Amino acid sequence: MTPNLVLIGFMATGKSTIGRRCAAELGFRFRDSDTLIERRTGRSIATLFAEEGEETFRTIEAQAIRDLARGSRVVIATGGGVPLNTSSIAALRRTGVVALLWASVDVLLDRTRYNTRRPLLAGDGDPRARIESLLANREPYYRSAAHITIETSNVSCEGVVERVLEAYRAHVTHHCLPGETHRRSR
Ligand code: S3P
Repeated sequence: MTPNLVLIGFMATGKSTIGRRCAAELGFRFRDSDTLIERRTGRSIATLFAEEGEETFRTIEAQAIRDLARGSRVVIATGGGVPLNTSSIAALRRTGVVALLWASVDVLLDRTRYNTRRPLLAGDGDPRARIESLLANREPYYRSAAHITIETSNVSCEGVVERVLEAYRAHVTHHCLPGETHRRSR
């Protein structure tokens, strides 16, 4: 079975944009956990956070991830908080190669400067400090969830797609013999 390609990483690392392009190259379908959540609830992520709170959002998100992980030949772009849920990551790793998109704090700050739709980055306070603190908390989860890591700072979109596909294919070649199901491995 050909494993899925799962993109994880901090907000604004390009998971959706890169994922859509990778899916086109691989001939896979593209799915995005935030989009699925918005479709299922009929609300935007920001509205969902405001009306139901983060905990309820995380419960809905975990269900969305469980469902997406059951698909095959799919590229899945995940919300930035997904790797904090170990069951979600276990489900994604069972059927897919998990690729971490990484970017420096400067790049993340630049890309989220005009953010309006990400509740965790909205509000008063120093945006750099907010990103640094979230990233410091999350980095160990991101690193341990990932089979492969791709640096995206100062790399063009095409360049990132190329690197992701190359690393994905190399991982599949090394870890999945023809006819074998995808094994959990690093
Ligand atoms: C979140 C990331 C967002 C979205 C929600 C929470 C997070 O997705 O799921 O705002 O906890 O990092 P993106 O990573 O696509 O921005």
